[in-house]
Amino acid sequence: MQQKSVALSTERAIPTGQVSKTNLPVFLTPLLGREHELVELSILLQRPGMRLMTLTGPGGVGKTRLGVEVARALQDRFADGVYFVPLAPVSDPDQVIPTIAKTLGVREAADLSLLEQLQAALLDRHLLLFLDNFEQVVPAAPRIAALVAACPRLSILVTSRAALRLSGEYDFAVLPLPTPNLAQLPVGEYLAQNAAVALFLARAEAINSSFRLTPTNAYAIAETCVRLDGLPLAIELAAVRIKLLPPQALLKRLSHRLDLLTGGAQDLPARQQTLRNTLQWSYDLLSAEEQRGATICSARKSRGFFAGSLFSSAAGRWKRWKRSATTTGQKSRYWPWKK
Ligand SMILES: Nc1ncnc2c1ncn2[C@@H]1O[C@H](COP(=O)(O)OP(=O)(O)O)[C@@H](O)[C@H]1O
Ligand SMILES: [Mg+2]
Repeated sequence: MQQKSVALSTERAIPTGQVSKTNLPVFLTPLLGREHELVELSILLQRPGMRLMTLTGPGGVGKTRLGVEVARALQDRFADGVYFVPLAPVSDPDQVIPTIAKTLGVREAADLSLLEQLQAALLDRHLLLFLDNFEQVVPAAPRIAALVAACPRLSILVTSRAALRLSGEYDFAVLPLPTPNLAQLPVGEYLAQNAAVALFLARAEAINSSFRLTPTNAYAIAETCVRLDGLPLAIELAAVRIKLLPPQALLKRLSHRLDLLTGGAQDLPARQQTLRNTLQWSYDLLSAEEQRGATICSARKSRGFFAGSLFSSAAGRWKRWKRSATTTGQKSRYWPWKK
């Protein structure tokens, strides 16, 4: 890139100096589990030469949530700040650079392309850019590569269902939350410490303040989490139904649904089938109005949580993860019953 000096626009231009700036979203509920991932990602992202990290995984697995927590933990490590760019509303790859520029307060100038302006503006900035929901704008990936190449102190964290497939990219597969071992179910507080169960309990208690984990409902809650593969979105959707159905009845419905679907497409990988079933089941739990909303959403963006395309992209990752787990001799801590 030809180096030219670029004056950043005033009010929202990225700040310099020691003040760490961020526009990261704030969640009103705590992050559950993910202790290992947080440590691993924090170390990886501070590794010299680590410039582009993509958190990959199916919709609802917790990529955004994990990414935001990691970015927040690293806020003070990036002198020029951590900036969150939500790309969910962007479906045109040509709008990716303008969206980043807008977030950073970089304005268009007559003699430079916006990409060139961004490159110049970020040239000596020590900054973490968090691009959320990249899957629908993947053709813009080369422009991200050009940004990284031109700005030696810039790091980029991406969430996407599929990797960007850029050289130097680190693909970090986000796996579902660990689920309890049904064969040796921990009791009481120990069970509540399992991240999937904790998520179910937190969301159920938010809906029904008197809801508690008891010896009577413990197994049904644990099995629900197992049946839902520890997928956070599916667990949240199930837990809010606790207002209408006690855990045992909820599980019965879920089991019925999955049993019905066991005879489905045998040519699909097991993981893909399970995820499909899981999300289809979650979809069925929505009210008719919510279903309409989800359908409109997925038709409009061709990428809703329940869109079929989700599963084909997820399948490759599951297969890759399983392959690497096999070759490294690593045992699944996520699917203990499949050891
Ligand atoms: N570890 C976690 N602790 C608490 N809630 C979580 C966790 N992981 C995901 N969630 C919740 O599950 C839902 C889906 O997570 P999200 O990060 O949006 O998934 P993705 O970005 O992979 O589609 C969100 O409501 C999120 O807040
Ligand atoms: Mg997300």
